Amino acid sequence: MSSTRHFLAIPDLSRPELLTLFDLASRMKRPGYADKPLAGKTLGMIFAKSSTRTRVSFEVGAFQLGGHALFLSSRDIQLGRGEPIRDTARVLSGYLDGIMIRTFDHADIEELARFASIPVINGLTDLLHPCQVLADLLTIRESLGGWEGKVVAWVGDGNNMANSWLNAAGMLGFELRLACPAGYTPNQEILERNRKLTKVTLTADPREAVRGAHAVNTDVWASMGQEQEQEERARAFQGYIVDQALMDTADKGAIFLHCLPAHRGEEVSEAVIEGEQSRVWNQAENRLHVQKALMATLMAT
Ligand code: CP
Ligand code: NVA
Repeated sequence: MSSTRHFLAIPDLSRPELLTLFDLASRMKRPGYADKPLAGKTLGMIFAKSSTRTRVSFEVGAFQLGGHALFLSSRDIQLGRGEPIRDTARVLSGYLDGIMIRTFDHADIEELARFASIPVINGLTDLLHPCQVLADLLTIRESLGGWEGKVVAWVGDGNNMANSWLNAAGMLGFELRLACPAGYTPNQEILERNRKLTKVTLTADPREAVRGAHAVNTDVWASMGQEQEQEERARAFQGYIVDQALMDTADKGAIFLHCLPAHRGEEVSEAVIEGEQSRVWNQAENRLHVQKALMATLMAT
């Protein structure tokens, strides 16, 4: 066990550290950045779920910073055959300089971090998706000039993304309004903790959440691992589509965000995701820049 710095949740970085991270990400994004803070370093990337953005952005990011990334499907490593997480953590710590993991149970990533002597980065669990929200915050800063005094609306499932938005709002102090159907609200403990830190509203009415908001955010109704609930969820989320009529109730300069992949015609209309207010492609690209900054912060010596 060790005191290595990990990034399992947004509050694992202090507010000043988060601000420094966004500045570094912006610097890395500008043409001409050529530092190689990860020279000679290897990131292991364990995936127990599918991924396009997370896998590619971490791998490309490590390479661009002079390092290397190793894709480890949990189906193909011994972890998938039952080798204990704590054993995997100690073995991999002897080879690698950092581990990024995407898995189901958040307790598993906590166990990995407890036993690893190298930084562990959360690439999504059922509870949280902090790297995505870092990218979303950078996108808000680029599009709206920052989050101070801004209202972020969340429409849909109180899932790993919603929980990470709650953590972000608590850390950075912006207002967050969540519209979630009954039975699909965010994690209660994360909600209560961040409610004490900033203005958080939870409603079942998307219009109440979106009215005057500066960023409107949604995600799929059934996350990875919930595919068998798809039909039941589609019924529960009727009326939760972010369409142009809903966007028109937001601030007139409002942007639309979605972590992707998206289901057009379910949580978002074709017109909104492809429309002028949509920042989803910038958001996806920003995964690369924030994660490079994160790897440099945690893994560079
Ligand atoms: N947004 C996101 O994490 O995408 P992937 O599932 O493709 O990694
Ligand atoms: N909430 C989604 C996010 C995908 C990037 C999921 O967990 O599947």
